[in-house]
Amino acid sequence: MTETLVPRITELPTRRHPDRPFDPPPELAAIRERHPLVRMTYPDGHDGWLATGYAACRAVLADRRFSSRYELAHLPLAVDGAPPELPPAAVGDLTGIDAPEHTRLRRPLVGYFTVRRMHSLTERVQEIAAEHLDAMQRDGSPEDLVSSFAKPIPALVICELLGVPYADRDTFQRHVFTIMGGSSTIEEIGAAMGALHAYLLDLVRAKRARPAEDILSSLTGTDLTDDELAGVGAFLLAAGLDTTANMIALGTFALLCHPDQLALLRADPALVEPAVEELMRYLTVGHTGLRTALEDVELEGQVIRAGESVTLAMGAGNRDPRRYPDPDALDLRRGAPGHLTLGHGMHQCLGQQLARVEMRVAFPALLARFPGLRLDCAPEDVPTRPDANIYGVQRLPVAW
Ligand code: HEM
Repeated sequence: MTETLVPRITELPTRRHPDRPFDPPPELAAIRERHPLVRMTYPDGHDGWLATGYAACRAVLADRRFSSRYELAHLPLAVDGAPPELPPAAVGDLTGIDAPEHTRLRRPLVGYFTVRRMHSLTERVQEIAAEHLDAMQRDGSPEDLVSSFAKPIPALVICELLGVPYADRDTFQRHVFTIMGGSSTIEEIGAAMGALHAYLLDLVRAKRARPAEDILSSLTGTDLTDDELAGVGAFLLAAGLDTTANMIALGTFALLCHPDQLALLRADPALVEPAVEELMRYLTVGHTGLRTALEDVELEGQVIRAGESVTLAMGAGNRDPRRYPDPDALDLRRGAPGHLTLGHGMHQCLGQQLARVEMRVAFPALLARFPGLRLDCAPEDVPTRPDANIYGVQRLPVAW
């Protein structure tokens, strides 16, 4: 196919259908049907690309000829106050750098997040979940599931793992929300990143002086500098706080809106492993990825030229009928092998086993404790986070 035949769109569709809060913006499916890789005009005038097909998204993620460096990228959405050229990734931000720098920073971390290590946390996560369910029961129905259950479980776990005092959560959660929430200006994001970094730098220095049994303390024994450790710590904390929390809350919302699937999971708790994978596919909380070609790359019959950015509509990729039959159905039994929600390739989510342990504990514990769990408002009244980098719900009113 020659480039003149490639469909072209002039902006990234972002608006979800009000009655279908779990589905990607509907225009994305229409675009994918025309072509899995289309030309897109970016807000800064850049003539780039949008990938909506599963195979196209996955191929870009797997291909080292595509860079993750922010300073090379064009943003697919206008951000208030964004400079014409993005600054390079903050120190410790693994998702904005390429090999070999990326390899050097990621390698010392990998051993702390293995399947075996994360499995060994199961009992502790169960305890944390049970404590929060006890508190919900004490407070009584109704309750907001986000603040009472979905947010505190991953927050406590990542704090304990890293050795970050949970008592400081009001401060760092606010910074993380400013960074990830999607409604902040570039200056606000910069200030929040600076404050979070400063907080972690103090903590790293304290750990170097008096090491404890936690990941940040152990990492002081590697050749990472204090600045790098603070950066990595801030990044892990942010990644650990906002992602799984949204999966637990949005996943519960989706289950409550699909009573047949909920009944399956209640009847067979062993279904939780495929169920968690399918919920991740169906909901794709991290809906958009971004890469820039370092050299000319042929893909889906097109040539992406060096310097052109490709936006990855991961939610659309995860709903591609060529990969998952009947993709808009939530089907817990399918298990959704190979879904894109945790990324793919060298940047694939480092915390994925931790996220899985948290979700595999959280969903069954919640359902077992409250056999009559239900939404305490109409589904259309649940406030979502349409602009956030990580999609989810702001609150989830539940009753039992
Ligand atoms: C369900 C929850 C989660 C989802 C959906 C998720 C999603 C992702 C995705 C899509 C990426 C790849 C980004 C890219 O390619 O640019 C990623 C990377 C990453 N995630 Fe997660 N994540 C989750 C939980 C966590 C947790 C709990 C941690 C905490 C340790 C974590 C830590 C990281 C790190 C450190 C990276 C960067 C890896 C790299 O660039 O080498 N994630 N995550």
